Amino acid sequence: MQDAKEEIKARLPVEDVVSQYIELKRAGRTLKGHSPWGVDKTPSFMVSPEKGIWHDFSANKGGDIFTFIMEVEGISFKEAFEKLATQAGVELKRYNRDDKKNAEKRRRYKAAVELACKYYQFCLSKNKSVCEYVFYKRNLDRKTVVEFRIGYAPSGKDQLIKFLTGKGFKLSELRETGLLNQYGRDLFRGRMMIPFFDNTGDIIGFTGRILGEGEPKYLNTPETILFNKGRFIFGLTQAKEAIRRSGYVVIVEGNMDVISSHQAGVKEAVATSGTAMTENHLKILSRLTDDIRLAYDGDEAGVKAAERAISLANDLGISLKVVSDYHGAKDPDELIKKDPKLWQKCVEKCEPAIDWLLKKYEMNLDLSTGPGKKTYSDIAMKMISQIPDAVEKSHYEKLVARKLDVSVEDLLAKKLPEKKVFLKSIKTINEKSAETINRLKDSLESILVYGGKAGSKINLEIPENETRLSELELIYEHNYSKFSEESLIKEASDLMKRYKKELEKVEIEKLTKELETAGDDEEKTAEILKKIKELQKGR
Ligand code: UTP
Ligand code: MN
Repeated sequence: MQDAKEEIKARLPVEDVVSQYIELKRAGRTLKGHSPWGVDKTPSFMVSPEKGIWHDFSANKGGDIFTFIMEVEGISFKEAFEKLATQAGVELKRYNRDDKKNAEKRRRYKAAVELACKYYQFCLSKNKSVCEYVFYKRNLDRKTVVEFRIGYAPSGKDQLIKFLTGKGFKLSELRETGLLNQYGRDLFRGRMMIPFFDNTGDIIGFTGRILGEGEPKYLNTPETILFNKGRFIFGLTQAKEAIRRSGYVVIVEGNMDVISSHQAGVKEAVATSGTAMTENHLKILSRLTDDIRLAYDGDEAGVKAAERAISLANDLGISLKVVSDYHGAKDPDELIKKDPKLWQKCVEKCEPAIDWLLKKYEMNLDLSTGPGKKTYSDIAMKMISQIPDAVEKSHYEKLVARKLDVSVEDLLAKKLPEKKVFLKSIKTINEKSAETINRLKDSLESILVYGGKAGSKINLEIPENETRLSELELIYEHNYSKFSEESLIKEASDLMKRYKKELEKVEIEKLTKELETAGDDEEKTAEILKKIKELQKGR
């Protein structure tokens, strides 16, 4: 494994790997670019070709080509490793036995669903009335049907089973890939079949649409070794390139919305398939772009789902945009059927989630009355209080004040509902501390290793990992190369003080949480309180 890792690094220069994702410009011995996590105004992403490492000063991350691919693609180390091995043309022989067994299993399962897909595609080509449904009723063209590998599951009880067992697959294998129902028969029957692809383009499951009316409208592969619905994003493999190119992603509700959208030229569309949006979905997408546009259905369920997604994103510090006006159509698919060009315009005309929400509340409240104004300002100010950027915040404060015909001062004098706001601020303190600690540790360790005399002020272990050392060198050059010895010594002791304080803060918070769970246990409570006091005294 270690050998393979070195071999891959030797064959793939870090600047080549990184520049598949961001544009790099040379700046002396390093290369510079904009953070792929989209938080910098001036280029803060550095690559050192000599050392084979990168560091992102705005997102505070760094490492080698493997960590870069993990972060930017949102995949595990193993997946990144395999991906880069393929790119480098390095064969991975050195698997341990467990890995080998698992890989073999996955390979068999993938072969089974791949063959099932081929079978469904074949069945579609042989069935005239289903072709009519796909091509005329659903308005899909041949190119789309081929690209998304759409097929048809015949209506018999075990036609797929017969086909796959005839090809040497065991029933147990078909069950494990989610192709059987509880009675051991074909799960998908008489449905238009849409495969799910993973990020390497392999099939991992299916969704099947009933032809015409009936329940359930869509049947999905259950959770299997291959398919995890909380992480799966429909259409992402096909959309990735477009998302990178145009810098945004559009999340629609239905799989068919994704397919029509791609056909209509908006190839940035994806969907969370057969499940509500999860944190994982948002995290995966936010690594690709910070311009995430929601285009859910216009009905009540769609609006509820959008509100939920916005609040989930807000908790993660991600802001969304909303595409809402479908010109009377109920969802993107229907709009595209009417006019594909109009869909492109809608996607361009998105607005920040907060504007969309404010308009919604405005419509549902009577702002000419006192109580209407109070409710509106309660909700609005609570949302606005969570905006981190001061300029943006002030923009919305003015907007709301104008709406209510009051001054911004009056608005700011409002008391916000206490409890929730309090909980919110604790959470952000925690997150901020973790970030600050990481940042301080980066600086401290860089001085420790490369700062000469100043290093003696720092009470930390010297890291042994090669990549980390190179990364620290880059950080040192970036931050401290111009410091005099004297000022560096001062910087080191200041940083060390702040670092200790930050660690204490986190410790106190942890203890405070324990205090809550201690409940009536007096002994435990007293013990925790003592610890907190000691920490506070030490400050
Ligand atoms: P919709 O019912 O809005 O799908 O469900 P749609 O795309 O408009 O369907 P068509 O156009 O009538 O064919 C949105 C999504 O919810 C999931 C599916 O992922 C679907 O794409 N869903 C819906 C299910 O998983 N099962 C269902 O029975 C219905
Ligand atoms: Mn729909």
